[in-house]
Amino acid sequence: MSAATTWDRRHLLSIADLSAADIHGLLELTDHMVEINARPIPKVPALRGKNVVSLFFEDSTRTRTSFDTAAKRLSADTTTFAVSASSVNKGESLRDTVETIAAMGVDAFVVRHKSSGTPELITRWTTASVVNAGDGWHQHPTQALLDCYTIRAGLDRRDGFDGLHIAIVGDIKHSRVARSDLQAFTALGATVTLVAPPTLLPPVLANPGHHDWPVAVAHDLDPLLPEIDVLYLLRVQRERMDDALLPSLLEYSAHYGLTTARAALLPPHALVMHPGPMNRGVEMIVDPAELPGSRILHQVANGVAVRMAVLFTLLGSGSDLRGEGT
Ligand code: NCD
Repeated sequence: MSAATTWDRRHLLSIADLSAADIHGLLELTDHMVEINARPIPKVPALRGKNVVSLFFEDSTRTRTSFDTAAKRLSADTTTFAVSASSVNKGESLRDTVETIAAMGVDAFVVRHKSSGTPELITRWTTASVVNAGDGWHQHPTQALLDCYTIRAGLDRRDGFDGLHIAIVGDIKHSRVARSDLQAFTALGATVTLVAPPTLLPPVLANPGHHDWPVAVAHDLDPLLPEIDVLYLLRVQRERMDDALLPSLLEYSAHYGLTTARAALLPPHALVMHPGPMNRGVEMIVDPAELPGSRILHQVANGVAVRMAVLFTLLGSGSDLRGEGT
C-alpha cells in the first residue's frame, strides 16, 4: 500500500496501487453514483462513445453483470467476450485474442482470469485501460472497494475505519477477496483478524513475526465474535483445492459456519458480509435474510455504483455526471 498517490488512473489492477486518499476519493465518487442509481432514469451520458469489453476467462455471475450494468448506466457501449464460443478454443493465444479485439477499438478491458497477473500482462498489449475483475488468488480490487463502501455506509464511517475490528473468516489461502480486502480495510485504519484452520491459511502466515501482512491470525472464531464490528465470511473454494485441505465440510461448518447461535454472540451493531456466491450449509448455516446485520445484498447493489466510479475515473476525462437533458 503506497502512502502517497502513485496511481496513474489508467488501470485498476491491485488495491496495493492505491493510497488511502485514492480509496476515499473513489468512495466519495461512489456516493454520486448511488445518487444516480436512485433516479427514475438511472443513466448519464458520461461515457458515451466509449467501448467497454468484458473478457471473462472464469465463471462469474455478479461481477460480470455488475460491470456490464455499471458501464451501461454511464452510457458506454459494452461487449461481452464469451470464451466458450471463441477462438481461444481453437488454440489462439491470450495475446492474439487481446490484440484482435483491441484492434476493433476498445477503451477498457474488464478482465477475469484464473492466473494471477493476467490483467497486468494485458496492459502491455493494448493502449486500453484494464480493470482487474479477479485474477487467480491474487486480487479483486473492485470487490474490496465495494466492501469498503458497504462498511462505510453500514457503520457510518465516512472518515475511515480507525478503531474497527474486522474478522475475515474461511478459505483465506485461495481468496483474492481476502488479499484485496485486508489491504483496503487496513489502509483505511481497521484492525483485521484472519480466522481459518491452518490448512486454509497461506503458508507465509504460519510463522508469526516472519511475514509483513498487516493482520492478526486466529484459528478459533467463537472467542472473537463478541468483539468484532464486521464478520466477513468467505466461500470455501472447492474448485481451487487440489488436495484435501479439510477433513470434511461438516467439520469446517462445525467450527466456522455461521449459525443462529454464533450470530447471537456478535455485538448488535455488527455487520455480516459475504462476497458471494455463498455455500449455504457450509459457511452460511443461518438464513442471512434473518440476520438484521446482514449486508450481503447491499454489497451487490453497491458493486454497481463502485464499478461506475471506477470506470468513470479511468475513462471519464473531460465528461461530467449530469443526467440526460440536464
Ligand atoms: C469472489 C471471486 O470470484 O473472487 N466472488 C465474487 O467476485 N463476488 C469470491 C468467490 O468466488 O468465492
